[in-house]
Amino acid sequence: MSTKTIAIPPSFILGAAASAWQTEGWTDKREGQDSWPDLWYKNDRHVWHDGYGPAVATNFYQRFREDVQLMKQAGLTHYRTSINWSRFLTDYENGVVDERYAAYYDELFDEMQRHGIVPMICLEHYELPGYLLETYGGWASKKVVELYLLYVEKVFARFHHKVTRWFTFNEPIVVQTRVYLDALRWPYEQNTGTWMQWNHHKNLATAKVVKLFREKGYQGTVGCILNPEVTYPRSRAPHDVLAAERYDLFYNRVFLDPMVKGHYPPELFRLLEKHQVAWDYSEEELAIIRDNTVDELGINLYYPHRVKAPSRAWHTETPFHPTYYYEPFELPGRKMNKSRGWEILPEIIYDMAMRLKNDYGNIPWFVAESGMGIENEGQFRNAAGTIEDDYRIDFIAAHLYQTLRAREAGANCQGYMLWAFTDNVSPMNAFKNRYGLIEIDLQNNRDRRPKKSAGWFRKLRDERQLTL
Ligand code: BG6
Repeated sequence: MSTKTIAIPPSFILGAAASAWQTEGWTDKREGQDSWPDLWYKNDRHVWHDGYGPAVATNFYQRFREDVQLMKQAGLTHYRTSINWSRFLTDYENGVVDERYAAYYDELFDEMQRHGIVPMICLEHYELPGYLLETYGGWASKKVVELYLLYVEKVFARFHHKVTRWFTFNEPIVVQTRVYLDALRWPYEQNTGTWMQWNHHKNLATAKVVKLFREKGYQGTVGCILNPEVTYPRSRAPHDVLAAERYDLFYNRVFLDPMVKGHYPPELFRLLEKHQVAWDYSEEELAIIRDNTVDELGINLYYPHRVKAPSRAWHTETPFHPTYYYEPFELPGRKMNKSRGWEILPEIIYDMAMRLKNDYGNIPWFVAESGMGIENEGQFRNAAGTIEDDYRIDFIAAHLYQTLRAREAGANCQGYMLWAFTDNVSPMNAFKNRYGLIEIDLQNNRDRRPKKSAGWFRKLRDERQLTL
């Protein structure tokens, strides 16, 4: 069997990601400091796999020192997590900082610095305070944009000397798509206008954060973590190609274009108007978006998205849903991660890299999440108790290879981050699909155990080359 080797440049990020709400647990959480996932969990616990959720998560809040040691052992250069807005403040209207929670971040950042691990911090990973959802309808309200800025101002003031890479959101499209387009998550309301309003206000909030950061003269960068899905049409026939273009417009370009190019695609305005989707924006807001584009992007890439032209039976006109223009398509014989039901196609990274190079001015970016969630990983445990996750090693190697190959072809890709560092709870699936380099043993006090992939990752870091 022939092998190929590719170099990993010295400055290239080899990291892993997580978020506050998926790891920390509720220790020291005060009455009323619920985030959207916390409220969802409290109101609808039975939909969360085996009843696990954010209440304990991995208990990172109490065990972060142990985890930072493990990050060092696994050779991470960078670690991405979020600050939980719903817990960073005790009063969202007046921006009162919860000193106890802020002190935990001080300690976490210091500990990471001691171990040479660079923090990359997201300001919202679905952690919209429940109070703001219930009082103002969340991101549907311009008041929430204002209160988010107040929160971010407090975060920057407190941590700008410890953190220099900031991200306004993780996957800003996800919550409103699941809640207001598809009505699949709490509070299960269909309203396409609300969906677009959330999109717009998150674009506006991002631009305002960029502006604030620059005006204050802080050192570093502000970006956003997006999850554009590489969308392939079933065939080159015009109606299938159009379906892919429309999918791309509604789910990818709705964030990529304003954040990187400074404006929405005119076609998006046209289609929203055609379908009478009501949303509110002003010329002044569009000007803020135009003048304050992001410094970099993190891109989460898990699987390819395949579409075909919609059949009559599939799409409905009222209320408007983008499925009016497309229908999912399953490629026969595709390679699958059966646990998660996602197709595996490492080339999505190369294709996305070329898109960002050719259509988005070769903006600096990195793979912010790539990973493989596997059910019942215990079956792969060896006699010494270690999970032998060779499938994960193969997955990372194939995806990292595409990242490095794209870089060699001129893409401005700065790194690769695995989802996730440890197993953690994810929306609804909780601990069902395990993603970590490090196992969280739910039967034994959530003890941490490096999987085989953690040792492999370390070697990658030491050797600075990937062999396939
Ligand atoms: C990403 C999210 O899209 O997918 C994470 O940023 C999430 O928060 C991850 O945990 C995995 O999702 P799931 O549903 O497969 O567990």
